[in-house]
Amino acid sequence: MPFALLGGLTPRVFLARHWQRRPLVVRGAIPDFREPLGVAELFRLASHGEVESRLVRRSAREWRLEHGPFSRATFARMPDSRWTLLVQGVNLVAPGVDRLMRRFAFASYARLDDVMVSYAAPGGGVGPHVDSYDVFLLQGKGRRRWRIARPRPYRLTARAPLKILADFRPEQEWVLETGDLLYLPPGWAHDGTALAPSVTYSIGFRAPTAQELAIAYLQFLEDRVSRKGIYADPGLKPQRHPARLSDDLIERYARLLHGFPVSLSDVREFVGCHLSEPKSHVRFERPTRLPGKQRFVRMTARRGLHLAAATIMLYRGRQFFVNGESVTARHGRALLARLADRRALEPGIFPAEDAAELLYTWYRSGYLDLGEADG
Ligand code: SIN
Ligand code: CO
Repeated sequence: MPFALLGGLTPRVFLARHWQRRPLVVRGAIPDFREPLGVAELFRLASHGEVESRLVRRSAREWRLEHGPFSRATFARMPDSRWTLLVQGVNLVAPGVDRLMRRFAFASYARLDDVMVSYAAPGGGVGPHVDSYDVFLLQGKGRRRWRIARPRPYRLTARAPLKILADFRPEQEWVLETGDLLYLPPGWAHDGTALAPSVTYSIGFRAPTAQELAIAYLQFLEDRVSRKGIYADPGLKPQRHPARLSDDLIERYARLLHGFPVSLSDVREFVGCHLSEPKSHVRFERPTRLPGKQRFVRMTARRGLHLAAATIMLYRGRQFFVNGESVTARHGRALLARLADRRALEPGIFPAEDAAELLYTWYRSGYLDLGEADG
């Protein structure tokens, strides 16, 4: 089915033509885009210690970078132009932003990383730079001019607090309006400048470097390993079950680990636990009043349930990976796979004993909640 999000391309055609290969601009990717987050809410998030935020200011001669949290008064004092606030991992704390991110689940949840939301005053931006991962830049409020150039070895500006390209020569440019989208493969240089107060949602993908992966796998070798290469999947096919870990993904992980004495079954276990590991600052809220298991099952049947926005749930066969833990489900595999793919179970479902036990454990840990997701 053609997809407004991808400019009329099906996910299959998009993945074959553009993914990890060439940029795509989509006008009206989300027609009548109603933003899941207001600017005041973004400023409020930036005042939280557990949310990562940065403030970038540019003047004619220099760039300045500060790390949050920022008091609300900081923003009231900012000038009318040439600054931007960047807030990382907004999907973890704003369910509407999590839902926005999951529109891109055709590449699988294992590849999605997070949504960074930026607010830029006119003239604001983070300067020309390169990211090492695929990114969809979705324009919210306002307008932003993007200039891009193809990958090549770039020089970095000396003494800047951010990685800014010294020799960026734009090859193409567009002004994105609310609801427009720019897809960039890894390595494409880009420079976004707000033309009016502007909000950008950056849906970023996860591409562990071989070095990061080796460290996670062999922590005790941390200081001795040195590896080259990066995860890539040109030719990726659309994933009907976005939470399912495909053979192709497992094999690519195994290839990045080539040379280590590892078996494919070790890699399967490692990849599932590693990819479902929540970011270090994530805390799950346990229910304040815990019903007994039988009551929980009846409530599930009446109200349905949904995964917490920060929960990562993946699976392979009967093996389920939830927030860094691995369990094998003897019964109820289809039900749990459905929960993982859709991130919710509708009312009217009575989970069988084995699945009910797991769901109850996850509920107690705050990994899932009853009813529909709010926001
Ligand atoms: C921004 O939103 O200002 C920067 C996003 C990016 O370049 O990746
Ligand atoms: Co970027």
